[in-house]
Amino acid sequence: MKVKLASSYGFCFGVKRAIKIAEAYENSATMGPLIHNQDEINRLKNDFNVGLYQNLKEVKDDDTVIIRTHGIPKNDLKDLKAQKAKVINATCPFVTTPQQIVKKMSKEGYSILIFGDSSHPEVKGVKSYGEDQDDVHVIMEIDEIKNLNFKNSKIATVAQTTKKKEKYLEIVNHLILRNKEVRVFNTICDATFENQDAARDLSKEVDVMVVIGGKNSSNTKQLHSICKENCEDSYLIENHNEIENSWFEGKKLCGVTAGASTPDWIIQEVVNKIEKIN
Ligand code: F3S
Repeated sequence: MKVKLASSYGFCFGVKRAIKIAEAYENSATMGPLIHNQDEINRLKNDFNVGLYQNLKEVKDDDTVIIRTHGIPKNDLKDLKAQKAKVINATCPFVTTPQQIVKKMSKEGYSILIFGDSSHPEVKGVKSYGEDQDDVHVIMEIDEIKNLNFKNSKIATVAQTTKKKEKYLEIVNHLILRNKEVRVFNTICDATFENQDAARDLSKEVDVMVVIGGKNSSNTKQLHSICKENCEDSYLIENHNEIENSWFEGKKLCGVTAGASTPDWIIQEVVNKIEKIN
């Protein structure tokens, strides 16, 4: 089977940076999974003895704690800093930005709207920076907007870094038509766009598409849904073990892309395996 890789795929700047940080601190541990990729987390454990805390209570004095790429809630960071542990912040700078916007705008009396998934660690962290938690609202879909009660007439919006910009625009349009003042911050990350645009282009020209990434990674799921729009036979896998020969029957060209937390060695294993399929 012939394989063509997307022109942009895999690790983004923030993930590369977090992994470099983790590799520099052997025998440390991360607060929450560093990135959304279990295989890479296992590699960091095996090669650098980088462990994982499930919660703050596990942290002991003199431990080195690495903050995950998606960030953690404000109070957790404060508690960690108050302990004697050494805190290394590997939060992606593009995640720190919406955290700081929410902090500043809510201090200035704006109601906050976050477009994102309220159960995602990044969104939980960003939300925690709001002054009045009852006036920080999170929505996933535009339909949810009518149920919101903003306390202020001024609204500031941010988006989860991996969200689709078109959907964000719909939400912003809705708000502008109904409110006197709306401050819109485009916090969607370019790295996601680049991988998305490349996946869109590639999925138009191939017979089958394989998207590699964590099943709980929102940017990987989004890549998969973009590919599906153009190529019905698009599959989401975490590694080469999940490949099924039947996907390639009667197909000539297979496109491959990968989410922003997928390491190159996993992508290479997938490509090698697909190339061997007749
Ligand atoms: Fe950061 Fe963007 Fe990656 S927010 S973690 S560079 S997808």
